[in-house]
Amino acid sequence: MTMRSLKMKTEFTLLALISLIISGCQPQKSSIKPGEVWEDDNGLFINAHGGGVLYHEGTYYLYGEMKEGETYLPECNKSWGGTRVDVTGVSCYSSNDLFNWKYEGVVLPAVEDDPSHDLYKGNVLERPKVIYNAKTNKFVMWMHVDSKDYSKAAAGVAVSNFPTGPFEYIESFRPNAGVWPANAAEADTTEGILARDFEGGQMARDMTIFVDDDGKAYQFYSSENNATMHISELTDDYLRPTGKYKRVFPGRKMEAPAVFKKDGKYYFIASGCTAWEPNPARSAVAESIWGPWEELGNPCIGEGGEKTFTSQSTYVLPVQGKSDAFIFMADRWNKDDLPDSRYIWLPIKFDESGKIVLEWHDEWDLSVFDK
Ligand code: GAL
Repeated sequence: MTMRSLKMKTEFTLLALISLIISGCQPQKSSIKPGEVWEDDNGLFINAHGGGVLYHEGTYYLYGEMKEGETYLPECNKSWGGTRVDVTGVSCYSSNDLFNWKYEGVVLPAVEDDPSHDLYKGNVLERPKVIYNAKTNKFVMWMHVDSKDYSKAAAGVAVSNFPTGPFEYIESFRPNAGVWPANAAEADTTEGILARDFEGGQMARDMTIFVDDDGKAYQFYSSENNATMHISELTDDYLRPTGKYKRVFPGRKMEAPAVFKKDGKYYFIASGCTAWEPNPARSAVAESIWGPWEELGNPCIGEGGEKTFTSQSTYVLPVQGKSDAFIFMADRWNKDDLPDSRYIWLPIKFDESGKIVLEWHDEWDLSVFDK
């Protein structure tokens, strides 16, 4: 071994030791404190906004938008207050208990120097969701990719062989080009945004992915300039839409969709459409993923409920090993300092009529599901 490699090895071992000591020093968490700063195993603020969780082989993986740097308001977004930070990429954290999260790094980084690339730092990358495909043994990430002024309105797809990446970016597209939704009315095919976008594909902004018990996956995306939600079936490899899709909640202007299934029924939570500002959440239920969807109103009760406790939905996380245990995950955006946006995680309850109920908790743990 040369002196140089010996020195490098010593430095490396020292660094590993320091990081081990730092993470070893982190007090173990045993509860969730919505809205408080939530630190990872390195004592750093968990940076995974607009996130979602994948459970795979005993581990939860949290993916989200890593928001760093200065928050600014581009000229093109002034009319609606669309502040932003440059894109850093999609971060990943892992956990076995949902309280203590290990930082796994940026699994899909932004592109620094190519303005024509979808992932260029000056563009938009939001609401990443990762699912596992058992047939291809790949981890598939879907996300909202956009231009700085949000006019591109497209879905992006990336894949990896491992939950902790690296993810390889494949492409972006507007879903369902050249196909009418299964429930298009006559008028939809001649006028309006659906008809306008028929050839090039439908606008796709805020989104989530839901995998059903039979392994079929669906993308829910805010379409038609955010006026109407689309539910779109994915191909068996989860990489493209099949062309089977439906319009739901027409004209209801819903964003931030989150979907889960309980006792054979499909539940949906979303927000209204007010950029970073909070608004009353929406909820809905259906017997089939294709609907009809029955709206159940704002599930949040008590003080602050009228603005979703100052937050916006991002995902519903089924807790493993407990029955009917679901966590509502939301972002409390700080539009003037986006990296300081906080997380609101609350247990989901159901009332006697089967409606979703969300109540504020300053601090809680998984024992709430035992009651
Ligand atoms: C919200 C949307 C976020 C982000 C933001 C930009 O309505 O849910 O994902 O796009 O607008 O202002």
